Amino acid sequence: MQLLQRGGPLTSVKRASTSRRPPLAPCAFAEPASAAVAAEKRANGNGNAAKRDQPFINVIEETAWDKGIPPVMGAHLMASGVIAPISTSKGAGIDVEPHQFQYPGEGSAQVIIYATPKNASKGLARLVSNAAAAAIKERGAFTLVLSGGSLLGMLSGLEAAKGVDWSKWWVFFVDERNVPHSSADSNFKGAQEALLGRVPIPAGQVFAINEGLTVEQAATTYEGRLITLPASVLPRDSEGLPVFDQVLLGVGPDGHVASLFPNRPEVAATGRWVLPVSGSPKPPPERITFSLPVINAAKDVLIVAVGEGKAEIVQRALEVQALPGALPAQLVRPKAGAARWVLDALAAQDLSVGEWENSKEFPRNK
Ligand code: 6PG
Repeated sequence: MQLLQRGGPLTSVKRASTSRRPPLAPCAFAEPASAAVAAEKRANGNGNAAKRDQPFINVIEETAWDKGIPPVMGAHLMASGVIAPISTSKGAGIDVEPHQFQYPGEGSAQVIIYATPKNASKGLARLVSNAAAAAIKERGAFTLVLSGGSLLGMLSGLEAAKGVDWSKWWVFFVDERNVPHSSADSNFKGAQEALLGRVPIPAGQVFAINEGLTVEQAATTYEGRLITLPASVLPRDSEGLPVFDQVLLGVGPDGHVASLFPNRPEVAATGRWVLPVSGSPKPPPERITFSLPVINAAKDVLIVAVGEGKAEIVQRALEVQALPGALPAQLVRPKAGAARWVLDALAAQDLSVGEWENSKEFPRNK
């Protein structure tokens, strides 16, 4: 895991706390901006801030604990005082087969912390416009995939970005609610208001959900529209999966990303690019969502979280390995490189970043 820090010293993101903390993943510090390097050195007190190229290690092999998950990693003690064994339950409901969660190799994560939401929005604008410029230079098109929710408000910084060739942008939705485009619940509507309606992206290059369909039809239709795009716009990887240039995810308090909710079969699904979701725990109940393999096939995946309300899930997702499928955000492991977490100081306040690089006692290494 790597930390980049922008817009404020590391120590400023931490609130005084004596609370319990799980063991931490060792972490390699990437080279931050020079002011942040100095702040980081102060925070570490050793002047040795930059350790580069260490492998990501916040990943626990599924077989790591044959006697049960250590309590520090989220397991619990039974009344006898013994650690609860690894569950062999088939899942919710006696006839339900266990889901096979896909761990596409070792993942890695990079954390970028901005001092304020405004700085995070500006930083996000830079990350997106840089990705756009690179993709357009390379093949004359940029494919951007958006989530809904508070992420959309963070996109406003892009409007002012300089030198953007909007005519080459293609915009998709990693998940969408199955509602009319005019609905207040529509991610498309939210994106129009936040950005798309203000910049000259050709209307035919914005992929809104088709209205008035069942959720199953909507997913199939959306996938069909992706499949028919030429490789010059949407290339495929060696497994035949689409390779989007950049995916912007939000994260829910339960660890969901896109409309992939904890412990639901969609999180384990591999056969389709776009999945129907019924009975979503977050309203509205009907949605379509990209599958995890499609998200992980993208060139660049950013998980954006700002505000105190995200602090707990950010800490859990980055510092506490969950059981497979329990925190979909932990399954975001782009094949092409690190998932990048874009945070503000409040969302990062429960992270024990200062301890990451020194901890060698992460349970999986024992
Ligand atoms: C949706 C989303 C969803 C969202 C998270 C975070 O359409 O509901 O795409 O995955 O990104 O729930 O939303 P907030 O940032 O608004 O909490």
